[in-house]
Amino acid sequence: MKIDYTSYKDVDLKGKKVLMRVDINSNIDVEKMEITESPRIGVLVPFLRDIFKESAVIIIAHQSRPGKDDFTDLDIHAREIERQLGRPVKFVKDIYGDVAVNAIKELKTGEILVLNNIRKYEAEMKGYDDFSEAENLDMIKTLFPLVDYAIVDAFGAAHRAHASIVGWPKMIAGPITDKELDNLKKIMESPDKPMAMLIGGAKAIDKFKAMKYNFEDGKLDYALCSGLTAILIFEALGKNMGEVNHKIIAKDLEANRDMLIETYKKYEDKIILPDDLIIEENGARKTISIDETGSYNTTTGDIGPKTVEKFREIMKKCKTIIANGPPGIFEMEVFRDATNDMVSAMVEATKNGALTIIGGGEMGAAAVMSGKADGVSFISTAGGAMLEIISGKDLPMIRALREKKL
Ligand code: 3PG
Ligand code: MG
Repeated sequence: MKIDYTSYKDVDLKGKKVLMRVDINSNIDVEKMEITESPRIGVLVPFLRDIFKESAVIIIAHQSRPGKDDFTDLDIHAREIERQLGRPVKFVKDIYGDVAVNAIKELKTGEILVLNNIRKYEAEMKGYDDFSEAENLDMIKTLFPLVDYAIVDAFGAAHRAHASIVGWPKMIAGPITDKELDNLKKIMESPDKPMAMLIGGAKAIDKFKAMKYNFEDGKLDYALCSGLTAILIFEALGKNMGEVNHKIIAKDLEANRDMLIETYKKYEDKIILPDDLIIEENGARKTISIDETGSYNTTTGDIGPKTVEKFREIMKKCKTIIANGPPGIFEMEVFRDATNDMVSAMVEATKNGALTIIGGGEMGAAAVMSGKADGVSFISTAGGAMLEIISGKDLPMIRALREKKL
């Protein structure tokens, strides 16, 4: 992926009206319709405070997707930005109608305006591999002439070819993208070795493919596999992981069985699989062996102590560690231990000089909750987008920034 864009640093933002497409997709308590936590707003706010203090900023963002229960207006995001920033933030329940247009026209230097959830605009998510198609949308044609610059900084959604991410005729990268790519560049180009990847959570087949890509590229030395990726590999190798586990990965297994077996055989000594797993029994953790898993036939929600120790020993040897997905079902307290242990192991590795990066979502939240977030080198605001970057893909947002630079 070629990184070649106009950065916000290349232009003078003072006194300018800027539109910023950011990713502030947050965790929401749907009963109360309140934001429970938002690391992404936490990352954005200091930049609003410093870099954009002398600009008029119009924020475009999304929350969830149509049909989901946390798909909602962005008034709560505006309030959360306001709370963290400590100064007023405006909101309009409109995207490019008269209300939004007037509010944008009236916006003054030093003011911030949040437009409503861009995914309420039906053409937003159509997918625009041809960027010029998106340039012709009413939304783009209405908003773009009202501002001096369109800053696209939705790094967590950089893998989506959505209108507000790829559709502006000219685009500038913002500070979040700059910082993220700065940190990921080293891993993409020439990571210090040995390099380990901790793989956990869902999206088993995508993570397996990311691992494969990095082995083939010669960058990766160890893949520490947990979560559904480990289940997928075990099942491909003929182990019975129980019907409960099997069901979740069955489709991916059927579609990729030969590739899984072939890849495993090729990199057998580098693919590190769990020796023990954890199930829940009467509210407590119970350690079981891999061979026992089939007969228990229940959710294996974490890796066991032997596996934690094995992963920890490998991490000690590594100069680069990248984690994408927690080893356990972190949302459930009973399955949380190994995720915390792995964050601690990454903190230790960082102290010993390793570059350690955590991909967004649960594992980043785990680091924050355990008070250890400052102990790792970098926590990305992206999960899926980071996974695609480390899989060598050219992300739509990065391509659009390159093709539409000033
Ligand atoms: C995310 O949280 O994954 C990003 O904001 C992208 O959202 P999406 O996965 O719904 O496209
Ligand atoms: Mg997502």
